[in-house]
Parts: sequence; structure tokens; C-alpha cells
Amino acid sequence: MKQNKYDDKSFFDKYSNMNRSKSGLEGAGEWHELKKMLPDFQGKRVLDLGCGFGWHCQYAIENGAKSVIGVDISQKMLNEASNKTKSENIQYICMPIEDIDFPDNSFDVVISSLALHYIQSFDDILSKISKCILNGGEFIFSVEHPIFTAQGTQDWYYDDKGNIVHWPVDRYFTEGVRNANFLGEEVIKYHRTLTTYLNNLIKAGFEIKGLVEPKPEENLLYTIPGMLDELRRPMMLLVSAIKK
Ligand SMILES: C[S@@+](CC[C@H](N)C(=O)[O-])C[C@H]1O[C@@H](n2cnc3c(N)ncnc32)[C@H](O)[C@@H]1O
Repeated sequence: MKQNKYDDKSFFDKYSNMNRSKSGLEGAGEWHELKKMLPDFQGKRVLDLGCGFGWHCQYAIENGAKSVIGVDISQKMLNEASNKTKSENIQYICMPIEDIDFPDNSFDVVISSLALHYIQSFDDILSKISKCILNGGEFIFSVEHPIFTAQGTQDWYYDDKGNIVHWPVDRYFTEGVRNANFLGEEVIKYHRTLTTYLNNLIKAGFEIKGLVEPKPEENLLYTIPGMLDELRRPMMLLVSAIKK
């Protein structure tokens, strides 16, 4: 099922108030790690799947990309992207990631930041990416970590005084839909094991180049309340791969 939650006004307003929405890439907790995994964009044709406010599209253009296509299912997100990122070399297309159908070898780089856990079939999207990316092209993506998505409620387990006890991990090997709670709203996400993410990537013809489970930047650990708890479980998985 393709859900367009980000076009829901109340959800969109809450998402727009998150630090990563207001401050851009520097406000994203994983950016210090993701940035290191990105390739040289000079002269490259880039596709960003689930581009949201277009921060990564803009980064690619600022770093020399020849052209960028940002795809997102949410018109509200893309309106904001068009306002925030002004470049005639970025084209935003409103459509589900599941429906992309670009000609063979259209892109040198494909990126996707925190969008693929909204997609039911990782295999289907991998075969579409594999078709439209050049051999030797790079695919870099982040998703919510399988430990984060497994149980489904996406919240800590608390004691009766409201203290965090642990992060629940359950139903790990039961892949599929989760009715997660994000920003106080029910959002449909998909859980996959680490094996599925990595093996399916390899089976689709990619060579894994890098893998990171990002931790918060050292200087944020003691300055932002709650940040130390982020060392108790991984929230994201970042992967870079090359199309062979
Ligand atoms: C967490 S936001 C990430 C936005 C951006 N990539 C970033 O990192 O700042 C997830 C984005 O994925 C988009 N999205 C979710 N499901 C989608 C789908 N099936 N097809 C296209 N976009 C989708 C949402 O509309 C939203 O903009």
C-alpha cells in the first residue's frame, strides 16, 4: 500500500517543525556520516528517491552535479522543496517511488534518504534502480534500522515512573508492514531484516562499499537532552553500493 502521509496537513506541520526540516542537512543527526559516503558529484546525473524538502538534491547541485531529479509522493513536500532549493538543474517529480520508470543508464548516482522503509517491496525498487543506473554508478541510501523497525511501535519501553527501560525488539524475522507511531500519528512503514537489505542489494548486482550505523555527533551527546539514549540502539542504517 502506498501511503501519502506527508500530504496530511497535521502530519506535515509536525514534520515541518522537526529540526531536520528547519535546519536542513546540518539539522539531521546522521548527516555527518552520510556526507562521508556520498560520491564526487562533479558532472553527475543524480536521482533522489523520496527527496522531501530537497536538501540532498541541493547539496548535489552545489557540489557540481550536472542535473538532479527529485521524486516524492507528497506535493506538499515538493512545494517546499521548490521554494527552498532554487536551481534550474533540479527537477522535482511528484510520484510514488514504486512507479519510477526511467530509461536505462539515466543516472550516475542514486540517493535515497529515509524513504525506502515506506516501500513495500525492496526487490522491486532495486531492480528499477539497477536498470536506470549506469554500471559503476553509486547507490547510497539510509533507512530506519531493522532493530528500530522490528517491533513496530517505535518507542522505548518505560517503567511505571516513566523512565526508559529498554528498546523493544520483537518480530525481527517477520518482515512486512508495521503501523508505526511517528510524530504522534500512525504511519505505515515496512520492516526488513539486515540480511534482506544487504543480500537483496548484492543479488540486484550491487557491490556493497560501506555500511554505517550512525551515532550522534560527540558534541551533541551532552548538550541535547535525550541524546545519550541514542547510544542504546541504532536508529538508522546507511549503505553505499556500486552497480557492477
Ligand atoms: C523522512 S522523509 C525524508 C525526506 C528527505 N529524503 C530527507 O532526508 O530530508 C520521507 C519522504 O519520503 C516520501 N515518501 C514516502 N513514501 C513514498 C513513496 N511511496 N513514494 C515517494 N515518496 C515517498 C515522503 O513524502 C517524504 O517526503
